[in-house]
Amino acid sequence: MKIAIIGSGHVGLTTGICFAEKGHEVICVDHDTDKLARLRNGEVWFFEPKLPELLKKHHSSKRLRFTDSTAEAVKFASVIFICVGTPTGESGKADMRYVEKVARDIAETMTDYRLIVEKSTVPIMTGERVKSTILRYVRGDAHFDVASNPEFLREGSAIDDTLKPDRIVIGVDSAKAETLLREIYAPFEAPMVVTSIGSAELIKHASNSFLALKISFINWIARVCEQSGADVHEVARGMGLDARIGAAFLNAGIGYGGSCFPKDVEALAAISEELGVEAPLIRLISQINREQRERFFEAIQHELWVLQDKTIALWGLSFKPNTDDLREAPSLWLAQRLLKAGAKLRVHDPVAMPAFKRAISDVYFAKDPLDATSGADALVLCTEWPQYREVDLAKVKATLRVPLIFDGRNCLDRRQAEELGMTLIGVGKQRIGPRGKH
Ligand code: UDX
Repeated sequence: MKIAIIGSGHVGLTTGICFAEKGHEVICVDHDTDKLARLRNGEVWFFEPKLPELLKKHHSSKRLRFTDSTAEAVKFASVIFICVGTPTGESGKADMRYVEKVARDIAETMTDYRLIVEKSTVPIMTGERVKSTILRYVRGDAHFDVASNPEFLREGSAIDDTLKPDRIVIGVDSAKAETLLREIYAPFEAPMVVTSIGSAELIKHASNSFLALKISFINWIARVCEQSGADVHEVARGMGLDARIGAAFLNAGIGYGGSCFPKDVEALAAISEELGVEAPLIRLISQINREQRERFFEAIQHELWVLQDKTIALWGLSFKPNTDDLREAPSLWLAQRLLKAGAKLRVHDPVAMPAFKRAISDVYFAKDPLDATSGADALVLCTEWPQYREVDLAKVKATLRVPLIFDGRNCLDRRQAEELGMTLIGVGKQRIGPRGKH
């Protein structure tokens, strides 16, 4: 089938390339001329494993092309996926300006039936808004359907998550829309869930908020561990073996980041309250997450007593491994707090240093992990890149001025560190910070 993708970022580009991989003919739209030029040149402008190879493959397969014209895409394809951003706006509400603009652009250029599909993560009731917007601005024949088809891709495994999803959710309110989406997804082997448009929109926000809830729950349990001598890894292992709970997303740490969890949790709370449904549980997910990085900073400050003029090595800048994405990364917040307190930073990340430099430049960018720890008064780990687990802690001790490590992802070998006489402070592993209310 011919498919149009409006918005060629992490979601749109991945979705378009995977549709091409499954044999569809795809046109991707992006209004950023620099990004468009790089994509036309076969270059992915962000780090995502497998994406560059597939982009090159479908450049030559001629099943994938790029344009800056929504009109051209609307003319080419009968099914149009909206993949533009829905960033956090005031009071946590999703900012829908980009989705609304695409709906208007489609309305003003369509001349016969089109299926407009919300792929972007949108608050429930957006489908109705898209419908009324198109009805208001359409010039020609007003035959169209709107559907919701949320994505569940994770950065760092976006291709696999899209080609082999746990499930495909389609929210439709017409047989024609369902038939078209079934045809598009026929080459994908995955259970298909067909719902109303609203249910499909809510499935996405509910799924991400539940995953974030698991993380904030285990991070709260970590606080109880720190004050009681329990070990959060042991607790998580004992919990996760219950099939009803599951082990995934029970890793305590400095808290979640990324372009999805923070904004989706806030957006769900905001839309719920707008609908008259109080959302204290959802608000708590974000509150615990914010506190998690603040408590980690306080633990560093408490242990070092004075941060002014201290040199601190920072391992891991991206919000999680296998991405160069810094959006809502705990490392960015922590780096700014440490710099504000007068510390000097020696930072390292396998891929995210160029992106980090665009945000914070007055730090030392290390050539490798041991260059970062050289002469530092402490090592702070924010992102559990596999490279850091492989570093010989004896060499880390030899390069540090003080054998002190703060492990924000509980990923370094605690036993080896203690055998080397190092102090390793994790999350939920021992008492941290000053006594008192936590
Ligand atoms: C998430 C959802 O997983 C995905 O389904 C949705 O489509 C988009 O949002 P993503 O944000 O790319 O994907 O990353 P994910 O792997 O979910 O991790 C999110 C954050 O949670 C990261 O900061 C990670 O460090 C943190 N995390 C994850 C924890 O702190 N503990 C865990 O146990 C798991």
